[in-house]
Amino acid sequence: MTPPPDEMAPASRLDTVTATGSMPAKTVHVRSWGCQMNVYDSQRMVDLLAPLGYRPVDEAEGADIVILNTCHIREKATEKLFSELGRLKTTKQEKAESGGNMILAVAGCVAQAEGPVITARAKHVDIVVGPQSYHSLPELVARASRAKGEPILMTDFPVESKFDHLPEESVPRGVAAFLTIQEGCDKFCSFCVVPYTRGAEYSRPPEDILVEAKRLAQSGVRELTLLGQNVNAYHGEAAGGAVWSLGRLIGAVGDITGIERIRYMTSHPNDMDDELIAAHAQVPELMPFLHLPVQSGSDRILARMNRKHTAAEYLSAIARVRAARPDIALSSDFIVGFPGETEADFQATLDLVNAVGFAQAYSFKYSPRPGTPASSAADAVPEAVKSERLARLQDAILDGQTKFNQACVGQVMPILLDRAGSRPGQLHGRSPYMQSVHVAAPTHLLGAIVPVRIEDARALSLQGSLAAEPCGMVA
Ligand code: 5AD
Ligand code: SF4
Repeated sequence: MTPPPDEMAPASRLDTVTATGSMPAKTVHVRSWGCQMNVYDSQRMVDLLAPLGYRPVDEAEGADIVILNTCHIREKATEKLFSELGRLKTTKQEKAESGGNMILAVAGCVAQAEGPVITARAKHVDIVVGPQSYHSLPELVARASRAKGEPILMTDFPVESKFDHLPEESVPRGVAAFLTIQEGCDKFCSFCVVPYTRGAEYSRPPEDILVEAKRLAQSGVRELTLLGQNVNAYHGEAAGGAVWSLGRLIGAVGDITGIERIRYMTSHPNDMDDELIAAHAQVPELMPFLHLPVQSGSDRILARMNRKHTAAEYLSAIARVRAARPDIALSSDFIVGFPGETEADFQATLDLVNAVGFAQAYSFKYSPRPGTPASSAADAVPEAVKSERLARLQDAILDGQTKFNQACVGQVMPILLDRAGSRPGQLHGRSPYMQSVHVAAPTHLLGAIVPVRIEDARALSLQGSLAAEPCGMVA
């Protein structure tokens, strides 16, 4: 699983789907919360509606369809949905007053988990559609247009794969894109809703993934992030019956002309198999960055979380990856204040952070999720203790992150310039290690991978200038 952008340090690449292109009359606005997979799903929803003549727009005001693609991983996200639905009630009324009709749809994991609650609490919602059934959006939109006022609830886990029903991309994705290769989770960590909202683990066939990756490369994508809630559990069955691991798939994606960078997220420590680790040593396109959530440094808490690994096993997975790719940058997720967490348990988490030296990490206060085993635990940690521990953990993470960034000063790195910078004359780019880099560069270099000398480092970003010499560190 990947952390929600609104609570993580690096910005998400896209949380509203927009595009230019031909100008049909009707418009759709998609707002996305949560993980990168939701960003991918939002783009696919736009693709599904494009053949019906819907063009994506930035604003909900005036749009013919508004889709809220939701996240259920922590409490705040559900509340955000309901406050957004409150605002959209006025937007929908305004559209009706001007003689139009706005179809309001709630998609994603909150839709899956709380469908009937949504239709009961927000009567102006027309469609509630879960993450495994959004390929039926064209049909649902047609039904909603006919039956105004009657909410449609579609939260099945259909037997057929939604991926078989997704059309080609309707708009170019830019230079860096996401591609979902695996979905769902069978791990059942005791705090997590994903196995319930996204369903059982499913791996797309490798041929389908390679077709999509080639299309993306042809449309200008140079960096591809392979997505899955448990991406390194990937086991896609090819037409001849052979089962591909993630390591094998990464090698094949690396062979696609135009794809120069590959990343994958999110992984489970127990699924770091030898083929994947070998890919880190052998596939030049695979970037030296690994997001490997550990959640806690205490074995007692890890057992209660049903993570099925110890802190030592996590450290040994990291040691194996580091042996294959010594400069790998590491990232993780942490939960503080899980039921029963003592100060000693928390100290073990701090010790793990200091031992690993993460290049970045995300940390969250434990939030009980309805229906998950941990939510009924009797020994909840008080909110004030959670907040105090979170602050200490974030200090330790930031410390490691600053050190990692400062060690880059003076190096020349290949930077993929992916968007305009915040200051005039500047572009934003990504280092191989996933750092944000601000570079003074002309706009015609957007989309290029250029050598940049790193001159300054802060906790959250690097600053550099275009370098004449080739990169010293990474291919
Ligand atoms: N409370 C707090 N954080 C959670 N996460 C998942 N479920 C919860 C929860 N109930 C965090 C984990 C996961 C990340 C995506 O979100 O750290 O890796
Ligand atoms: Fe959730 Fe655990 Fe599965 Fe990750 S591995 S999606 S935390 S159940």
